[in-house]
Amino acid sequence: MSKLYVIGIGPGSKEYLTFKAQKIVDSSDMLVGSKRALALFPENKVKKLEVNAQNMEKMFKESISYVSSGKTVALLSTGDPGFSGVLKPILNLKDDIDIEVIPGISSVQLCAAKLQIPWDDADLVTLHGKGVSNDLLDLLENGKPTVILPNFDLNEIARFLLDHDVDPQREVVICEKLSYPDERIVKMSLGDVLKDDFSYMCVMVIF
Ligand SMILES: C[S@@+](CC[C@H](N)C(=O)[O-])C[C@H]1O[C@@H](n2cnc3c(N)ncnc32)[C@H](O)[C@@H]1O
Repeated sequence: MSKLYVIGIGPGSKEYLTFKAQKIVDSSDMLVGSKRALALFPENKVKKLEVNAQNMEKMFKESISYVSSGKTVALLSTGDPGFSGVLKPILNLKDDIDIEVIPGISSVQLCAAKLQIPWDDADLVTLHGKGVSNDLLDLLENGKPTVILPNFDLNEIARFLLDHDVDPQREVVICEKLSYPDERIVKMSLGDVLKDDFSYMCVMVIF
């Protein structure tokens, strides 16, 4: 039966891909995802649609119509589809098709694991697609670590917090390119974040 599988593929390395995700990818008629997501499955020879910020809606509509025509599609989401992933946009577009979500290991989960932070003692926040707001300032006062998925730019967060009188010595850990060979985990002060260069692929923790 045709179906749209919304599949979390984990933080990037195949070591964090679940057996379930791999099994469904292997039996799908088409793979849809970012360049980074598709790169995990070079051996798969079915049709592939590459998604980027500009063509996302078009590619998702194409995926939905492929499912409507009787095919099975694997829509790949880095990390987990439900945390700033593709689940929300696809639910907004979906027609009358069957959808199943396969969870994946989120970058924030791997970050918490690397830093040995129990989730129930932390606040998990996504700024993706939203940017920084005063809500973050309130969280920083509650004594728990704040695990943040940035809106691409760590400097934006650091600048906002410093402009709102957060202590420049406040301890921060940046987890960059988690699970990749060039993974980098650095501890620094909030003020020093502005002096370094980070890729868009980061999770930031403020202690
Ligand atoms: C569109 S969001 C997707 C988040 C994803 N659904 C998740 O659960 O990890 C993309 C952002 O996730 C973070 N991210 C994804 N993979 C990462 C990785 N391997 N290491 C660090 N951060 C990562 C980065 O902040 C990146 O800008």
